[in-house]
Amino acid sequence: MPGIMALRKRAGDDKPLKNAKIVGCTHINAQTAVLIETLVELGAQVRWAACNIYSTQNEVAAALAYAGYPVFAWRGETEEDFWWCIDKCVAAENWQPNMILDDGGDATHLMLKKYNAMFKMIQGIVEESVTGVHRLYQLSKAGKLSVPAMNVNDSVTKTKFDNLYSCRESIIDSLKRSTDIMFGGKQVVICGYGEVGKGCCQALKGLGCIVYITEIDPICALQASMDGFRVMKLNEVIRNVDIVITATGNKNVVTREHMDKMKNGCVVCNMGHSNTEIDVNSLRTPDLTWEKVRSQVDHVIWPDGKRIVLLAEGRLVNLSCSSIPSFVVSITAATQALALIELFNAPPGRYKSDVYLLPKKMDEYVASLHLPTFDAHLTELTDEQAKYMGLNKAGPFKPNYYRLLSLKSCQIVHANKPTHKKSLVEYCCRYKCESCIVCKPKR
Ligand SMILES: NC(=O)c1ccc[n+]([C@@H]2O[C@H](COP(=O)([O-])OP(=O)(O)OC[C@H]3O[C@@H](n4cnc5c(N)ncnc54)[C@H](O)[C@@H]3O)[C@@H](O)[C@H]2O)c1
Repeated sequence: MPGIMALRKRAGDDKPLKNAKIVGCTHINAQTAVLIETLVELGAQVRWAACNIYSTQNEVAAALAYAGYPVFAWRGETEEDFWWCIDKCVAAENWQPNMILDDGGDATHLMLKKYNAMFKMIQGIVEESVTGVHRLYQLSKAGKLSVPAMNVNDSVTKTKFDNLYSCRESIIDSLKRSTDIMFGGKQVVICGYGEVGKGCCQALKGLGCIVYITEIDPICALQASMDGFRVMKLNEVIRNVDIVITATGNKNVVTREHMDKMKNGCVVCNMGHSNTEIDVNSLRTPDLTWEKVRSQVDHVIWPDGKRIVLLAEGRLVNLSCSSIPSFVVSITAATQALALIELFNAPPGRYKSDVYLLPKKMDEYVASLHLPTFDAHLTELTDEQAKYMGLNKAGPFKPNYYRLLSLKSCQIVHANKPTHKKSLVEYCCRYKCESCIVCKPKR
């Protein structure tokens, strides 16, 4: 994890997180351990729980606990254990957290609902997932967000790397490790052509699969079409496909009705954050038999003998069934650490109780920390070129409206401002807006 180690080295003496008390709720794996150690090295105190009941690497949690870090997590927690663990991170003797590092919004949710007085003392929230960010914007819209929050998910260094490149590799890894499927010639439907969906499609197409996409957004549907995929409704392909993968961040995308129509042996899994994309509960009826064939792999059997192969009970398949590349996690972890440092050290007034994107300069910094790994040599602008382009030679090198950010993230930011709802064009800050966080970041 070169970026996070470089950050540790560069900021270690300054201790920019001294006095920060961070409640962490993320996947607990080897890479998270490096992040936790880094935050502590930078001066923070932490208490940590898992954001997913199946993704914890027990040996890592044990090693962290053995080293003295308060970590509350194990693989295979019940729903009740899950909330108990987060509770343990929030409420402890002589402990008033002042920062939250969340992945999915559960720590934020628990504090807001159960420990509201404590929540009001929080200085900042850093949120990693699409789902958690969505909840933060909803809270902000409802006027219930009393602290500033950093939307790390839509940082280009997160979305374009973790969601896209990491999923491109780990979807294959997780399907291979949990089934013996041969990909060539298989028909696959991927629900959602966002960053995660795009990564999965690239990988599966590369291995010779015939890939169908379902989408609700015409822009993503057009992208999928122009990338050579057929965009269909799920009902139109569900009887023929061999693999169904959800990657929408939405709920009930695959319903019992769809699963009733699937063919024998169809593999069903989810790459989205929460376990709501596939309606797994609808499979817990007396007419269906569940057979656990191995860890994270269930056969669900219909009365006529048809079976579907359900992976990780509809939870994140790659984090449940495979490992993810450390390099890409380093990019996300460095982004998270910088977001924590920024929120914790920001002078009063820089951030209000709203949801912010990390300034582009920081995204560029995170990227630059990782370039030495590839022996990549950046070209420097000449004075003349910098003047011609209207750029500072040290960056940022792109305006914030540059389409490294997805249109969707612009829309989310703008959705909070009624004046931006006038027309579709005005959704896009490129044309009209002068004042939103996307157009005018506080640097
Ligand atoms: N598995 C992983 O390692 C991993 C990594 C990053 C993100 N995620 C999670 O994956 C999910 C997707 O992330 P993303 O970055 O691709 O988000 P995204 O917003 O870029 O893409 C989601 C896409 O799904 C589409 N969609 C929504 N509802 C739909 C429906 N009912 N049918 C079809 N399409 C629908 C949206 O239009 C959008 O294009 C999120 O829950 C995110 O937290 C997982």
